[in-house]
This record gives sequence, structure tokens and C-alpha cells, in this order.
Amino acid sequence: MSYRIQIAETQQVFFVERGETLLQAAGRSSIVLPHDCQLGGCGTCRIRLLDAGAL
Ligand code: FES
Repeated sequence: MSYRIQIAETQQVFFVERGETLLQAAGRSSIVLPHDCQLGGCGTCRIRLLDAGAL
């Protein structure tokens, strides 16, 4: 099962698989998100969830 992610500012869409990080999924779709450590320590990749749809 995958989840559809849409970036509000750019309207870009990508899909993330269970167990995959948003950074990994975006990168797989050639979408570059701001990041640094990729380990959850710096906060550079922090995002705000606007709508969770029908989870
Ligand atoms: S890149 Fe996500 S916390 Fe550092």
C-alpha cells in the first residue's frame, strides 16, 4: 500500500510506501526536499501536514 503526498507550495505529487521515509520517496520521484542529516536530528526536513485525507 502506498500513500499519495502532494506538496502544497508546488503541487508536486509523489507516493510513499509503507516503511519508506518521505525523503526517500521524494528522491525516488526526483523531487528534492530540503534536508541535511537524513537521520531526524537537524529538523531541516520538517514538514507540516495540512490534510491526512481518509487514512
Ligand atoms: S534531514 Fe531530516 S532531520 Fe535532518
